[in-house]
Amino acid sequence: MGEQARIGVMDSGVGGLTFVRELLALCPGADIIYFGDSANCPYGNQTRERILDLTYRTLSFLQQSKIHVAVIACNTISTLIDTLQSNTSSPLFSVVAPVAGAVAHSGARRVGVLGTEFTIAVGTYQRLIQQINPAIEVVGKGSSSLAAMVDQGAPVQEIEGEIQSCFGPLLDHNPPEVVILGCTHYPIVKDFFTRRYPNIEFLDPAVEQAKVVAHWLEQQGLETTGQGDLKVYTSGDPDAYRRILERLQIPVPHVLEQIIP
Ligand code: DGL
Repeated sequence: MGEQARIGVMDSGVGGLTFVRELLALCPGADIIYFGDSANCPYGNQTRERILDLTYRTLSFLQQSKIHVAVIACNTISTLIDTLQSNTSSPLFSVVAPVAGAVAHSGARRVGVLGTEFTIAVGTYQRLIQQINPAIEVVGKGSSSLAAMVDQGAPVQEIEGEIQSCFGPLLDHNPPEVVILGCTHYPIVKDFFTRRYPNIEFLDPAVEQAKVVAHWLEQQGLETTGQGDLKVYTSGDPDAYRRILERLQIPVPHVLEQIIP
């Protein structure tokens, strides 16, 4: 039997727990060490240099647990993966590339991407999709506030209001057939999107990312069956994580702590 798989997962906040949910469905025996940097959320409104600094700090923290792999659940950070990988010894997995590949091969002709302003501005989704199929039209829209609202547990009406006012112009008329929820915080409120836009297919990129990570763990001969151990750390309020864990139906772990790495 192989060594127990140990996976570091990072996000700017609670959003990356959507990846944890998907990975646990495929690899229930993996040990997962999660860090959500809610004290510095939203990353999507920060500079490239600042996002890189924060991410290196988180990577060093996760590497103290002797992880086999680091998963960048955050779309905003994933747009910088080439720079990050060239300075990091652990293998890194982006959330962007797997779903971009899946969408490019899906037969969709017009694809929407919703994310942070940073993610939309750098255009990684559009580039990766059109590298595979240049005929696909990719339209994107960024929100500067939805991720932080979800992270802080804002009232439903405020979240619905932001979805409507920010994304309505893209989704109300001539909507794309498929829309990538290109920020980890958005799948947490996916039901808000599907209620308002029942004819659009909304994709959670964590689903494809979890498949890629599970496949890699298997190739390495690492053990992912049985009962794994989840530890959740945050620079923010652990109670916010408890609420999201419950919402995502992930058992609340015995380690759920606030730390500043
Ligand atoms: N969770 C991050 C993402 O997937 C964005 C939230 C933020 O701006 O910090 O892009």
